[in-house]
Amino acid sequence: MKYFTTTSNASKRATDCVIVGVYNRGKLGVGAAEIDTASNGRIQKLIKTGDIASQIGRCTVLTEVAGVKAARVAVVGLGKSGALDAIGFKKAVAASIRSLSNSKTRQILNTLTLETVKNSDSYYLARHSVEAIGDALYKFDQLKSGRKKKPMPLSTVGHSIAKSGAAAKTARGAEHGDAIANGVAVAKDLGNLPSNVCTPSYLTRIAKKLASGNGKLTTQILSEADMKRLGMGSLMSVTAGSTEPAKMIVMKYKNGGSKRPYVLVGKGVTFDTGGISLKPGSGMDEMKFDMCGAASVIGTMAAISRMQLPINLYVVVPAVENMPSSTATKPGDIVKSMSGQTIEVLNTDAEGRLILCDALTYSKRFKPEAIIDVATLTGACVVALGHHRSAIYANNDDLQDALFAAGKTSEDIGWPMPMGPQYDAQLKSNFADMANIGGAGGGSVTAACFLGRYTSGMNWAHLDIAGVAWKSGAQKGSTGRPVPMLSEYLLSRAGALP
Ligand code: BES
Ligand code: MN
Ligand code: ZN
Repeated sequence: MKYFTTTSNASKRATDCVIVGVYNRGKLGVGAAEIDTASNGRIQKLIKTGDIASQIGRCTVLTEVAGVKAARVAVVGLGKSGALDAIGFKKAVAASIRSLSNSKTRQILNTLTLETVKNSDSYYLARHSVEAIGDALYKFDQLKSGRKKKPMPLSTVGHSIAKSGAAAKTARGAEHGDAIANGVAVAKDLGNLPSNVCTPSYLTRIAKKLASGNGKLTTQILSEADMKRLGMGSLMSVTAGSTEPAKMIVMKYKNGGSKRPYVLVGKGVTFDTGGISLKPGSGMDEMKFDMCGAASVIGTMAAISRMQLPINLYVVVPAVENMPSSTATKPGDIVKSMSGQTIEVLNTDAEGRLILCDALTYSKRFKPEAIIDVATLTGACVVALGHHRSAIYANNDDLQDALFAAGKTSEDIGWPMPMGPQYDAQLKSNFADMANIGGAGGGSVTAACFLGRYTSGMNWAHLDIAGVAWKSGAQKGSTGRPVPMLSEYLLSRAGALP
């Protein structure tokens, strides 16, 4: 995608489509007013006749508007005047792209970046614009046979700015938005692929492919033999029932000299049957999404390496399939983690923490500046926060605050969650150093406490993304979250935000 900025009047730009906005009660956005003036009041007329709606998410596409150079004018609703926020802005942009998706539109000029949007500026508006376009254009039809709908051939996106002084910020926002949208698409693809395609071995191939063609990025794979040698008995206990070989993927992006790396660890359970503690059948297909943590950290790596941020970023993905079989781990089995701590596996369906603990211990060798693990870890998290916010746990307030803030500015929100000795005590086992489940109550918190036992000496956070990583129902599919939150956090740490 190519991007440009322009200060020119919306009616004067020769392009395939110009996107303009209207508010409730006939109030026109900046671009809409320019089109209205040039076209003898066409927009106002259509609002009066009820042919243009102002609710957010509605869009009317006009063609051959007299006095306007663009071939099409997409008029989108912006809702109540003075109340537009970044979520509404993104919805409006996405709605305009969806309305155009059957057309042959190659270039658009988005004038919505001229609007006043709460807590936003030209950088974030351009970024949100490009991210929303990426979301709206995203399709996953690679596994459908037959003739596929041709995607809209969009190749150039312009953003209107009021003064040329905003050009640099806007260009930077578009560039970052493009990288983040690409990272989100990488994560969505991996999440949406079924478990018979997206195996641990498939994840290794994708990670290697990402690294080829990027001089600063390398990928290294640990085999089961390597992991056994390292003493990862906890991780190995999860893959015991599967014939798919487990892998540990280590990606290193080095562009920060001798600075300590940021390390992202992603849960890569390519399918979670629950193991011997088998899950119920209904809706079990959705456990193909149990590698969305892995997908999001790989997607974030794609975004950061494309932006060439001046940091060191490592990604560690423990990838396994959790299956029942006669070789599978059984409830009550006791395993030894790489840290030396022993674990009584009271429920084989609490497998995410069993692979993450060994990945966290392994990552200590990198002496991380900060380490963040991302996991579809608990159904309890969905009970606590629903499908809107990621749970943010951390062993220090600064990191928790930074991730919370990054979630807000990137419109990929989280919520700070507690830990502490009372919760941690729920992990007591009569036979081993700890149990892998914490009993009734606070399931997402006790899972975090379990991981916390493997992070001493590190600046650590844990994101439970069980509620946000994918959607169920008619819109079933991966969301690519929390790629925007993680990217925002790293952009901020790299000092790359304007
Ligand atoms: N992958 C699941 C968590 C999950 C469940 C995410 C439903 C999204 C929707 C995880 O491995 C799991 O099964 N957790 C158990 C833990 C329990 C046995 C302590 C759960 O949440 O039921
Ligand atoms: Mn499970
Ligand atoms: Zn799981």
